[in-house]
Amino acid sequence: MIVEITPGARRLRAEAARVLVDRLPRGWPDLRAAKAEVEAMLDPSRIARAFVEDASGALLGWIGALELYPGHVWELHPLAVRRGYDRRGIGRALVLDLEEQVRRRGIQTLFVGSDDEDGETTLAGRDLYPDVVAALASLKDLRGHPFGFYQRMGFSVVGAVPDANGPGKPDILLAKRLAALDP
Ligand SMILES: CC(C)(COP(=O)(O)OP(=O)(O)OC[C@H]1O[C@@H](n2cnc3c(N)ncnc32)[C@H](O)[C@@H]1OP(=O)(O)O)[C@@H](O)C(=O)NCCC(=O)NCCS
Repeated sequence: MIVEITPGARRLRAEAARVLVDRLPRGWPDLRAAKAEVEAMLDPSRIARAFVEDASGALLGWIGALELYPGHVWELHPLAVRRGYDRRGIGRALVLDLEEQVRRRGIQTLFVGSDDEDGETTLAGRDLYPDVVAALASLKDLRGHPFGFYQRMGFSVVGAVPDANGPGKPDILLAKRLAALDP
């Protein structure tokens, strides 16, 4: 079951922070940082949704989104599935639900940036300049980087920010159109 994470949902908020630290420690190295992120995503202008196990009420993953280009593009941020629950369709369910939430707001495009800080793709550990586009055109996964997940979900690679996380550690940019373009 997918539910909104509300300010009153203390257990979900705590579990969401723990999942962030556990699955994305480079972004959120400690619980304090992760809790601050969860709180920030509860702002009414943003979206925060949790995949909850029906029987136990435990959080098995969560997803957020915020406006990036007003009226047109929202950014998916963050997304994490609880350790041990990968490849069971939870990420897919969360993304599809988020797409619906964003679409209802009249938004056409969902964007996501997916860092490669651990040499998981052919973009890592090298100088991508001057022909960044050529490097992107031959992008390959080396060990399970999440860009492959987003591609499965219908996202296209639309760019990269070289050295976004330090030399040789790029951010891979993807986007998906959620609704037909206006004629
Ligand atoms: C990336 C993540 C959200 C995927 O969630 P998940 O629940 O394992 O994904 P699903 O089971 O819903 O997979 C949906 C599809 O994507 C595929 N997939 C999942 N992870 C993949 C990966 N890393 N690379 C390529 N394909 C992947 C699945 O095989 C499935 O394919 P199918 O369409 O053939 O069935 C999850 O692994 C995770 O939380 N990772 C750690 C945190 C993280 O990296 N977050 C993203 C930061 S940008």
